[in-house]
Amino acid sequence: MTTAEFVIVANRLPVDRVITPDGEEIWRTSPGGLVAALEPVMHGVDGAWVGWAGVAGLELSPFEANDIRLIPVSLSEQEVQEYYEGFSNDTIWPLYHDVIAPPQYHREWWDAYMNVNLRFATAAADAVAQGGTVWVHDYQLQLVPEMVRALRPDVTIGYFHHIPFPAHGLYAQLPWRDQVLRGLLGADVIGFQRTQDATNFLMAVKRRLGVETKSSTVLLPDGRRPQAKAFPISIDTAPYIELAKRPDIQARAVEIREGLGNPKCILLGVDRLDYTKGIRHRIKAYGELLDQGHISVEDVAFIQVASPSRERVDAYMHLRDEVELATGRINGSHDTLGHTAIRYLHQGYPREEMVAMYLAADVMLVTALRDGMNLVAKEYVATRADNRGVLVLSEFTGAADELRQAVRVNPHDIEGLKDAICAAIEMPREEQSKRMRSLRKRVLTHDVKAWSHSFLKALDHASRARHPQQKT
Ligand code: G6P
Repeated sequence: MTTAEFVIVANRLPVDRVITPDGEEIWRTSPGGLVAALEPVMHGVDGAWVGWAGVAGLELSPFEANDIRLIPVSLSEQEVQEYYEGFSNDTIWPLYHDVIAPPQYHREWWDAYMNVNLRFATAAADAVAQGGTVWVHDYQLQLVPEMVRALRPDVTIGYFHHIPFPAHGLYAQLPWRDQVLRGLLGADVIGFQRTQDATNFLMAVKRRLGVETKSSTVLLPDGRRPQAKAFPISIDTAPYIELAKRPDIQARAVEIREGLGNPKCILLGVDRLDYTKGIRHRIKAYGELLDQGHISVEDVAFIQVASPSRERVDAYMHLRDEVELATGRINGSHDTLGHTAIRYLHQGYPREEMVAMYLAADVMLVTALRDGMNLVAKEYVATRADNRGVLVLSEFTGAADELRQAVRVNPHDIEGLKDAICAAIEMPREEQSKRMRSLRKRVLTHDVKAWSHSFLKALDHASRARHPQQKT
């Protein structure tokens, strides 16, 4: 098999399998942030991407799509249930998001997680060239760095954690806490979204493994010196800026407002339908503002895009029921024949339509209870070249560390959230513009290229430190 200098390992491949109405199989670029972040890195390098095609039981040979060599890893239906829906999304996801939902601990899920991580690690070890680089992504694959190192001690290994890393008091719940730390420590550079995440990880390493750390360096007994640091991820700003300039998309934004009965103000929420996103809190705050007469449906409309996600996991099914009950109640009480309170959309949309919604939105509501970064906040800012619009941003997102000029909220504080929404609705143009200018400056200068460049620079540094004779 041909090998590659640079191998990305992520749970998902960067393309989704789509079956057209006439039964033809096509591969379409996945819309997610990870793909947008890494696609530019893959072009112009001798690279390959190891990942799952998103369909249980599908066995595929390596293939090429959009000039990227793809190495599919197959998962059986049982592995999808135990590794993906189970351990990744019903154990690690809720635990790492501050137990907003109770994590489930099942030994069979852990066994499946180990087996599947080994499959990804083996595929990466087979794909990477002598002395090459493997970059592992996210919480589904935390054991892969150590496994790749055991199989291929010659390669440089990076790991980036896209979600939060919890405080030790919570992390300590995990029955397999020591194994997971050792898995991550197989990497030369372990990247996190926020400094706090890196600090939590280093604390867990000290307390659980009794290993010394010095600043961001872990001093392993075997002499290895992994680095754990923050590299806040961002977006590729250019497509958002370009789309926002297009007359047809601007016209679509006007059409969206007209479709809502031309309210004075449009509030917008855009999330995967996930309990970490604080969707219920935002709906509650909006409903109370209507109940108490602070706003009316004629003046203030709320669009909530909640794209379907992890629909077979219990906590997600419950959330959907709760969100749809709350939305139905508010709409039932406040809709008129001409105006809807909450335009709830349980669907995903192409980027063009998302940009039109961002342009239509006077206020963007990002009220996550916990979020690694939140790229929606950055997408909204990138589209607002007119320097209008207000970003209401939860202080529990990674983005809040960077986007200091947003209206900050604690989404658990419903009164505070209501006040913030009212302040955003009423914010004078000059203040909107002052804040948006500063937000845009930050997002435009710290884009995804800057992110990948700084991570890969740290990785290159680590690799030179390990092989001074080869790389100088
Ligand atoms: C988050 C995670 C990603 C994940 C994405 C979509 O952003 O950090 O690793 O791919 O959600 O979730 P899904 O379960 O559909 O892959």
